[in-house]
Amino acid sequence: MVILTINNKTVELDISEDMPLLWVLRDLMGLTGAKYGCGIGQCGACTVHVDGKPVKSCSLPVGEIGKSSVITIEGLGNDPVAQKLLGGWVEKQPTQCGYCQPGQIMTALALLHEHERPTKEEINRALSNHICRCGTYQRVRNAIKVAIG
Ligand code: FES
Repeated sequence: MVILTINNKTVELDISEDMPLLWVLRDLMGLTGAKYGCGIGQCGACTVHVDGKPVKSCSLPVGEIGKSSVITIEGLGNDPVAQKLLGGWVEKQPTQCGYCQPGQIMTALALLHEHERPTKEEINRALSNHICRCGTYQRVRNAIKVAIG
């Protein structure tokens, strides 16, 4: 039995501790915001927060999560920083196919929680592990710039 806290709800699951978190989110919880891209921790499409830090859920066995809090893009609620960030996304419309965007948003949000006004270098460093086949890199950065004002 694995007990997890996902989007502030406790769930008990009869699964192996080796199961990657992404499988739990998408297949067992129906939380499909985090995406399967590479499955080997390289693309960032599966990024969620674990205790506020961006984590690639395809490469995190649930047995390693313990009592940490998992937040997915579905669980952002009324977080004012998230609302500001999403406002930047609405204004700048960086999305093309959209597949990588939830992961990029979760990483950007973790950065903004840590630094209210990150520098260009800090933004580039934070997002350097995200791959976008549509090449939205600059538009994503423009959306973040709008959010930080
Ligand atoms: Fe997890 Fe690519 S699917 S990093």
